[in-house]
Amino acid sequence: MNAKTLELETEISGAIAEAQSLEALDGVRVKALGKKGTISELMKGLGKMEPDERKSFGQAVNGVKQRVADAIEARKDALAGEVLERRLATERSDVSLPVRPGPMSEGRIHPISQVWDEICEIFGDLGFAVAEGPDIETEEYNFDKLNMPDWHPARQEMDTFYFHPREDGTRKLLRTHTSPVQIRTMQAQEPPIRIIAPGRVYRCDSDQTHTPMFHQIEGLVIDEGTHMGHLKWCLEEFCKAFFEVDNVKMRFRASHFPFTEPSMEVDIRHKRVGNEIRIGEGDDWLEILGCGMVHPNVLRAVGYDPDKVQGFAFGIGIDRITMLKYGMPDLRALFSADLRWLQHYGFMPFDVPTIAGGLSR
Ligand code: DAH
Repeated sequence: MNAKTLELETEISGAIAEAQSLEALDGVRVKALGKKGTISELMKGLGKMEPDERKSFGQAVNGVKQRVADAIEARKDALAGEVLERRLATERSDVSLPVRPGPMSEGRIHPISQVWDEICEIFGDLGFAVAEGPDIETEEYNFDKLNMPDWHPARQEMDTFYFHPREDGTRKLLRTHTSPVQIRTMQAQEPPIRIIAPGRVYRCDSDQTHTPMFHQIEGLVIDEGTHMGHLKWCLEEFCKAFFEVDNVKMRFRASHFPFTEPSMEVDIRHKRVGNEIRIGEGDDWLEILGCGMVHPNVLRAVGYDPDKVQGFAFGIGIDRITMLKYGMPDLRALFSADLRWLQHYGFMPFDVPTIAGGLSR
């Protein structure tokens, strides 16, 4: 009697050990333990046996059943492990291979985006945070609070795009400069403040050297003892880092902006050699930014006390310094979405500018 169960157990154990796949193993399981399986069939003889015999036979078959089930589980784990091993061995990828040609090597980062990141990197290193404001502004933020009341001539000179007036007489507009972010930042936080605000700005102007949308970066520093020496040092550090030359010659020229007093425009010295522009050499000057000490009226407009805090602000034209740094002769090419131009002047997606890695390498 036990010889029969033993024989069956040996046979099934052999089949389990030989099963080379999870599917084959499941076949063995069904054949042995399924409803019509060999072990289940053995049980059917129980009814015809004497009580004593039935007991010992039943126990023996149950023992076989249990051991077979355990063996199947164990083999299942082993097979699953083998499958994983095989996948790990065959599906390995060599990360040292060069990147396959595709969108990552075809596509380019637009020079404006790259320079935008370069500027944020430089000022970030100097401890500035990046602030943002909306492209659609109110007259209050774009003009009034920046010490440009509606009778102010500078307001007309801005070539503003206005939206239709609303019922209460107010008009929204496309911001003409990033300066309103100064106001929004000062209203939202207390000094000390040290921010830059890159963004798109809009003016109704279009010719060889003007596009209706262009890019600026605003800077604002407010604290108790901030003075013009800080402003000069900060902009010099920026220009050295941005143009990647130790020797930048800068000229601070007296100017006028309603929101600063005193106000200056900054020119940098450069020389054109064919299509190339060399910064810090030659006798040509090019204006790159406006700056000054924040006007007391601007501080009052946000509820600050000009006798307690003061600071400086600046506005840089991103498009212009991009052209200057990378030797682009035509402003309009920046906005023409010409793939050939982008292939030439654009940046690889992996060329993320960092101070430590060298900005443009
Ligand atoms: N908002 C000025 C413009 O668009 C640029 C500017 C000049 C910004 C002087 C400033 C500044 O913050 O201090 O022409």
